[in-house]
Amino acid sequence: MTIKSVVIGCGTYLPERILTNKEISTFVDTSDEWIQERTGIKERHVAADDEKTSDLAVKAAQAALNDAGLKADDIDLIIVATTTPDLTFPATAAIVQAKLGVSEGAAFDIQAVCSGFIFALSTAEKFLASGQHKRALVIGAETFTRLLDWNDRATCVLFGDGAGAFVLEAQGGNSGQSRNQTSNQATNHHRGIIETYLRTDGRMVDLLYVDGGVSSTKTTGHVKMQGNKVFREAVTRISEAMVTVCEKANIPVTDIDWFVPHQANERIILGVVKKLSLRTEQVVSTIAHQGNTSAASIPLAYRAGLDDGRIKPGDLVLLEALGGGLTWAAALLRA
Ligand code: UT7
Repeated sequence: MTIKSVVIGCGTYLPERILTNKEISTFVDTSDEWIQERTGIKERHVAADDEKTSDLAVKAAQAALNDAGLKADDIDLIIVATTTPDLTFPATAAIVQAKLGVSEGAAFDIQAVCSGFIFALSTAEKFLASGQHKRALVIGAETFTRLLDWNDRATCVLFGDGAGAFVLEAQGGNSGQSRNQTSNQATNHHRGIIETYLRTDGRMVDLLYVDGGVSSTKTTGHVKMQGNKVFREAVTRISEAMVTVCEKANIPVTDIDWFVPHQANERIILGVVKKLSLRTEQVVSTIAHQGNTSAASIPLAYRAGLDDGRIKPGDLVLLEALGGGLTWAAALLRA
């Protein structure tokens, strides 16, 4: 069999402070009723002033290492997906590497906004498949609330902070066959990532972006979004990604056990479920208590699915995300 990237650990971290819809409605013209009805969000976590993205990432990574029964020394690749780095450079992954005490291999960031975790997962999978790295920490970590304009009710009610991490381990790879020589059917029953699918269409930058940056304004800027246009794109593009990744694996979408989506809007998730004839019971949703944590949302939801006993070893799990760029992506794996 070819080298498979197997998820052998998953860990998360959420900052202590919880910001409820009711509290937001005390400083901006909105209501708990509107937010819940239009998004499914009840509350979100907000990082403390002295908590940086790397702090959140390290706590999630340590939890993932514990879950895998490994030490920092066992890791030789760290990829952090984030839109809210500690510093303009170096990569937050380098800071995380030092804080964890990892001294081997490479560490770098990936920026694909809310799709970042799947972009990072897909990248790590290719590094492990090449045989050059053995175990990767793939981390989605965000202090996204720092990018919000708290006077803009159309965006400030949507996002939260948090982090989640997978430990991926390269397993198998002794057949001598190249990746392309082995049929999908031969390896689909093994644990690990089966297929990933990544897309970007930069013509839609204006739909969702931050109006600041190093080389433009020299400021951080705030999130700007044409929400209903993003919403319309989301259901179509996410469905397309999920169908494509399953077609590549020769597995019907309806064969999956669990659907672990990026948590942007409950209505988007249910729209996709309906379009693809999935069942609502298959959805792992954390949006009510976490809001949209951008690159962190998928591992946070995955952990919730493990904790309540839904996701079990061998289950087929489909991940998806869409974010600024626009970027969109899906990944199919066997837990
Ligand atoms: O993770 C990255 C990807 N992001 C997404 O996928 C987000 C996609 N978009 C969405 O989730 C939804 O578009 C939103 C939740 C952002 C907005 O929901 P919507 O149903 O599309 O509302 P809308 O933007 O069409 O606005 C409807 C009305 C407007 O008022 P008028 O013009 O009809 O009087 C808004 O001003 O709702 C108003 N509105 C609000 N009212 C109360 C917008 N935000 C709020 C708010 N509270 N927080």
